[in-house]
Amino acid sequence: MAILITGCAGFIGFHLTLEILKKKKITIIGVDNLNEYYDVNLKKNRLKIIQKYDKFIFYKKDISNFSHLKKIFSKHKIDVIINLAAQAGVRYSITNPDDYLKSNIIGFNNILNISKEFKIKHLIFASTSSVYGDNKNFPLRESFCTEKPLSFYAASKKSNEVMAYSYSNIFKLPITCLRFFTVYGPFGRPDMALHLFTEAIIKNKPVKLFSKGNHIRDFTYVEDVVKSIVPLIKKPPSGKLPYETLNICNGYPKKLSYFLKLIEKYLSKKSKKILLPSQKGDVYKTHGSNKLIINKTNYKINTSIEEGIKKFINWYKEYYKL
Ligand SMILES: NC(=O)c1ccc[n+]([C@@H]2O[C@H](COP(=O)([O-])OP(=O)(O)OC[C@H]3O[C@@H](n4cnc5c(N)ncnc54)[C@H](O)[C@@H]3O)[C@@H](O)[C@H]2O)c1
Repeated sequence: MAILITGCAGFIGFHLTLEILKKKKITIIGVDNLNEYYDVNLKKNRLKIIQKYDKFIFYKKDISNFSHLKKIFSKHKIDVIINLAAQAGVRYSITNPDDYLKSNIIGFNNILNISKEFKIKHLIFASTSSVYGDNKNFPLRESFCTEKPLSFYAASKKSNEVMAYSYSNIFKLPITCLRFFTVYGPFGRPDMALHLFTEAIIKNKPVKLFSKGNHIRDFTYVEDVVKSIVPLIKKPPSGKLPYETLNICNGYPKKLSYFLKLIEKYLSKKSKKILLPSQKGDVYKTHGSNKLIINKTNYKINTSIEEGIKKFINWYKEYYKL
């Protein structure tokens, strides 16, 4: 069996690729354009780890180029696609919407077309909790309204969901849409709060706390995310319209100010804070229901935020040789 993982040098893509490769049964074809949205060395260092495995083949390619994807598919017999390549980030989408159009819309359109052309058995793709917008009913369930995205990032992911739904309907393509909720952990993204806060504290710089630290997030540890995805690979949705949406979340949301307290605790150092108002496009609270994913996989998402942040800080100190 062979799986194409796009965005394999990214945070979640790297952890997922490693988790599958460790089982030694499946070939992974990894695609990533290694763009410079954040520190490319971090991407290259993640790649170095997965490139140690014989069953891993890497292509530095862009999913927005259909002919590049086609070449890969004519070389390898691919059964499943897991599409994680995307331009991520809510705030960056305010100033750089074109990047989202290229990777998230054109790139994703190519993923759908290649899946159709090569009769992929299961397409799994990353969406986001941001599609729930300013929904105030908690926990957020997959059936809730997602018609009012607050940012262009959320709009691009919502577009993926409706594009995929239509392909599933017309071409009977089995597709699973995963809505990730604030994923964190070792090798995490340098543009996200955990990395930014940790770096600021270590460098004696002020931590910028948007919404004065009152935002509430359903922080989800990366190991729980990838261990929830693996059992899904061989469980494509079936029936007349083989399309399914699943939240991947911890289910125990926490305030950003508490998140910061834990970072301070494990670094044994207090932060200097700048309290700022909420930023455009940010939602106030995320808190998902993980009932559906747990029922489907039998994997119990169980990493507490205390345990998860401790593991991240240990990784950070080791990686940056502190
Ligand atoms: N991390 C989170 O909290 C979170 C939350 C919700 C959704 N997501 C989604 O999960 C997916 C993975 O997120 P991540 O946190 O690992 O982000 P990431 O930025 O670390 O990983 C994405 C990877 O895709 C690559 N990429 C981007 N555009 C590409 C293109 N056009 N062609 C080929 N490669 C390309 C990047 O170089 C990067 O390595 C994304 O789709 C993201 O939107 C992440």
